[in-house]
Amino acid sequence: MPETATPGAPARLDARRVRADFPILSTVNRFGKPLVYLDSAATSLKPRAVIEAVDAYNTKYSSNIHRGIYEIAERATSAYEAARVSTARLINAPDAAEVVFVRNATEAINLVAYSWGRRNIGRGDTIVLTEMEHHANLVPWQILVQEKDGDLEFIPITDDGKLRLEVYEALLHLRPKLVAFTHVSNMLGTINPVRELTEMAHAAGALVLIDGAQAVPHLPVDVQEIGADFYVFSGHKMLGPTGSGALWARRELLEAMPPFLAGGDMIREVHLRRSAFNDVPYKFEAGTPDISAQIGMGAAAEYLMGLGLDAVRDHERELAVYAMATLRRDVPGIEIYGPEADDRGGVVAFNLPGIHPHDVAQILDRDGVCVRAGHHCTMPLHERFDLAATARASFNVYSLPEEIDALATGLREVSRIFDR
Ligand SMILES: Cc1ncc(COP(=O)(O)O)c(C=O)c1O
Repeated sequence: MPETATPGAPARLDARRVRADFPILSTVNRFGKPLVYLDSAATSLKPRAVIEAVDAYNTKYSSNIHRGIYEIAERATSAYEAARVSTARLINAPDAAEVVFVRNATEAINLVAYSWGRRNIGRGDTIVLTEMEHHANLVPWQILVQEKDGDLEFIPITDDGKLRLEVYEALLHLRPKLVAFTHVSNMLGTINPVRELTEMAHAAGALVLIDGAQAVPHLPVDVQEIGADFYVFSGHKMLGPTGSGALWARRELLEAMPPFLAGGDMIREVHLRRSAFNDVPYKFEAGTPDISAQIGMGAAAEYLMGLGLDAVRDHERELAVYAMATLRRDVPGIEIYGPEADDRGGVVAFNLPGIHPHDVAQILDRDGVCVRAGHHCTMPLHERFDLAATARASFNVYSLPEEIDALATGLREVSRIFDR
């Protein structure tokens, strides 16, 4: 929980106290080593508040939503809808009905690509993306433009992992229909200037979709202040359960969009040959959703807001600064990709020259240190830097500087084993 050092001073995050909320952090690996979890960008650990919220649904009021009129069914519906309100508050959405629950960020982007995209993208239309997109914010648009005979253009990036805004400005002269970009890069850690990018897109007449999968868990996000049209994120990266996620979009956009999936719950009335659809957001929530996961995501949103997103951001900025300095000082030859620490989220991708990142990750694992190795679903970005793969350490509210020290020690051991 945050603590206030002096009256009026901003609350700081006390990661040591936060760690007590995460039961998995008291486990050890098969060699008896404590868990040093540095893979939060892949998925975050879950605090007790989330675990208990999911458990309460399963043990106390497990029933379907939006249909039963008995006590536990009403309880399930109100918990599910309360989760929607919490999720809306987390991103300062003006109206909880603009929050559509989905399984993850990938599903949210596909929803927009199929529903909005198929109605609004036609032959010769352009969609602008960036070279740093996760495959989730690339492949759905590739499929769409292939089907519709449209075009994709890409904002290139500088050698230190930032978007080249002068090229973006030029691309906007093509009058794209949509600009879609990540808020925070899951490989480089770059925090993009989302408000500026959005203003520029709007001035050129484009709508904007922002992939907030690596932003919502780590910094204050205000969709109204950003001015976005679509904003997507996953529950499992923000301390919530897998199978939970959200699409936020302006109400008039959602109302004009056709359903993505069809079936129960998304209808108002059904006849043999025609149906009328439900209001937003239910129009986009066909079938029984992952009720307990969304309830858990609501608990995660409350937990994060309880910590304070400014405090979370400060904590992770300090960790990024510490990690870059420590790794550069203590691990000879290490190559770190992306911008300097102040401009990045809690993500550090690196390589030890001549050693495959899979070997790095495997050796670190013996000491309980978990990092990701591979292309992190950003193959074009790796191509941009002429890399086959990288290792990546990523932080969260429970991460400690000592864990970065453990990473540095482990990396020195890797170098020793490979005689580098
Ligand atoms: C920036 C970014 N976008 C989208 C995704 C996709 O998230 P999910 O797999 O939860 O749909 C990820 C996951 O790593 C990501 O980092």
